[in-house]
Amino acid sequence: MSLDVAAIRRDFPIFAAQPPPFHYLDSAATAQICRPAAEALLRFETEARANVKRGVYRLADAATRAFEEARARVARLLGGVDPREVVFTSGTTLGLNLAAHTLAPRLGPGRRVLVSVLEHHSNLVPWQLVCARTGAELVPIPATGDGRLDQAALEARLDRRTAVVAVTHASNVTGAVTDVARVAAATRAVGAVLVVDGAQRIPHGPVDVRALGCDLYAFSGHKMFGATGAGVLWGRGELLAELPPFLGGGEMIARVTFAASRFADPPHRFEAGTPPIGPVLALGAAAAWMTALDWEAVQAHERALTRRLLDGLAALPEVRVLGPADPEARIGVVAFTLEPHHPHDVCQLLDVRGVCTRGGHHCAQPLMAHFGVEASVRASLALYNDETDVDALLEGLAFVRSQLG
Ligand code: ALA
Repeated sequence: MSLDVAAIRRDFPIFAAQPPPFHYLDSAATAQICRPAAEALLRFETEARANVKRGVYRLADAATRAFEEARARVARLLGGVDPREVVFTSGTTLGLNLAAHTLAPRLGPGRRVLVSVLEHHSNLVPWQLVCARTGAELVPIPATGDGRLDQAALEARLDRRTAVVAVTHASNVTGAVTDVARVAAATRAVGAVLVVDGAQRIPHGPVDVRALGCDLYAFSGHKMFGATGAGVLWGRGELLAELPPFLGGGEMIARVTFAASRFADPPHRFEAGTPPIGPVLALGAAAAWMTALDWEAVQAHERALTRRLLDGLAALPEVRVLGPADPEARIGVVAFTLEPHHPHDVCQLLDVRGVCTRGGHHCAQPLMAHFGVEASVRASLALYNDETDVDALLEGLAFVRSQLG
């Protein structure tokens, strides 16, 4: 059945709030919040606010139960994993830093961390820092000409020296989707840990992390129709149990004396201090909202829109798309250049037409270098976009050319 986009849009308050024309094509930076998530956030802050995991009075107990229910909802979105494998973070960046710091004891001279050149800086810089500290070697996994992970090159670099492989599930520049199951099989064969940045992939459908075979999977609530400020690091239970704490503080301990501390079991071991409770509840509400969708219809809709966008861009001779031309191999995150204009000028003029896009290096400078460009324009689609958004962008580009020459 085809997707009822009008019904989807009614679930997003922004579309009634913003005056037309409003064509939001920057969901890869932050997606709009769905109504159940916004309501969960507001309800907690105004009607049900108390700290979690501490108080025994009814309000505090209700907050704790709602918090753990959010964990269970995320666990369902991830293929029905054990909720104890769901660690709440402030977002993808914290999740990936948590991964790098807690895996550091496995690193050292003679050990290697393989990181793809497709990565957002948040899945590269933490590994650089931890390699510099431990003496491990950081090894780049190259990209193919059209900006996908080069699987053969990855396999050629994998050996018993490899402690960690870090890849993105979907690039925030080329939209290319990584075959994580294949990377996982190769990573497992050498006994390394696979860390996946799922921030861009998760808004495009539930992810069965166990079936993928990865070890750690990070994402943000605000890119999957929740609020800013909360995210998830999913970890395979057996691995989480072995990892040391990251941040120290309240609620991550079992017993503290001045001589030493014993730590709580996962996931609480990794959740020191008061968590972002409202954003976590919003994330849980967004996860439940997503779980109820017909993903076959959503993905068919997104693929059709991506094809329309790629075909439209291909018809413009000044445009160079950075990424796979085949909509089957990618999500609807489409970066491109419009020669000879600077992406910021292009984005500013598109904004005159009510088209929201992002221009810059997209926190992926090694990938920009791979393409030999400093910056690009990026249009990113989500399930609430429709043909009018794509057409407004394409018409907007004609307007840009008429203005800039
Ligand atoms: N990581 C987000 C992006 O790629 C902010 O736009």
